[in-house]
Amino acid sequence: MKKHILLGISGGIAAYKSCELVRLLRKQGHEVSVAMSRAAAEFVTPLTFQALSGRPVLSETHQAGDGNGMAHINLTREADVFLIAPASANTLAKIANGIADNLLTNLAAARKCPLAVAPAMNVEMWRNPANQRNIAQLLADGITVFPPADGEQACGETGTGRMPEAAELADLLPDLWTEKSLSGKRVLITLGATFEAIDPVRGITNLSSGQMGAALARACRAAGADVSLVCGQVQTALPAGMGETVRVLGAEEMYGAVMRRVRDCDVFISVAAVADYKVSNASGQKLKKDGSGRPPVIELAENPDILASVAALPDAPFCVGFAAESERVLEYARAKRIRKNIPLIAANDVSVAMGKASNQITLIDDAGETALPLCGKDETAAAIVRRIAELLPAR
Ligand code: C5P
Repeated sequence: MKKHILLGISGGIAAYKSCELVRLLRKQGHEVSVAMSRAAAEFVTPLTFQALSGRPVLSETHQAGDGNGMAHINLTREADVFLIAPASANTLAKIANGIADNLLTNLAAARKCPLAVAPAMNVEMWRNPANQRNIAQLLADGITVFPPADGEQACGETGTGRMPEAAELADLLPDLWTEKSLSGKRVLITLGATFEAIDPVRGITNLSSGQMGAALARACRAAGADVSLVCGQVQTALPAGMGETVRVLGAEEMYGAVMRRVRDCDVFISVAAVADYKVSNASGQKLKKDGSGRPPVIELAENPDILASVAALPDAPFCVGFAAESERVLEYARAKRIRKNIPLIAANDVSVAMGKASNQITLIDDAGETALPLCGKDETAAAIVRRIAELLPAR
């Protein structure tokens, strides 16, 4: 869902990260309007944000005329959400106490839309009791606080106070406007490719990138679920805000990791591309050419079917499977849903889905089949989550 985001920038070196944030939010399809405090304009110029956002920037040093001189009111009326990143200790203190004496604090006071803040400050300023009191007040007032990260700080000290990276903020922001259809639900997701070792350095794997699994994890988290991941080989960044992320290699290891965790779950989504076979004669040492010209013989043994095993548990969670096929996609997917005894399967053609940012899936459940349009994996994931939320209470 495309939104209009008002991005407030207060004074701090982390303002440079907000340049990237504007770029990422626009890449997601959102409109971004930027408002800057006087101190912020000392770190990054309004012109930079004007170029990146493609819109006039409102700042205390560089007013964009809007006709009625009420830009601070108009901007918050147009916005679906107001994010202040970086948010300085000073700006947070003022907002927590209802002070409106500059552009950003006026915007915060006059807004009708939700407000989120990404604090950025020195570790001692963050720990300072007055600051902690202000943060508690902001949370009590319904303001979303994206907690600062740990690490090295621009001042040379180390500790909590770094603004989260732009990619993390862009990942977490859509949670603010997503319907909480999975609120309180625990979701376990497998994603990525398994890797079946042949020897200590080689193995059998596949082209799954993990993007669909990551998009589903994000969509479940945005819908209010507590999400854990069992993750094979992925070529994508994993989403922020996950409960637990376990890394595994082979299908058997994935099976063990899932079985240890799935009993507490309401929903199990099996997106991983799991190898059907493992190497039963894997070598403990790296295989060498022996000069005979004969290649080594690799013997295979069948892997456990993780999804079917979970679905067969007494009190099984609501199970969602994927059927990635290269031919007769719907026919195979229907059969797979019945064979694995799962309520919902997402069918897709490997040529459309594997390693791509977009996907076209058909959802198959007891009620029938729904072909979703070809769209980005985030949109596909949101549609799958909506269907899970519809089917879940009926179980
Ligand atoms: O049997 P097939 O691999 O075609 O089924 C695909 C679905 O089953 C996917 O949801 C996949 O994650 C899951 N699966 C599994 N364990 C296996 C094989 C597939 O969980 N060993």
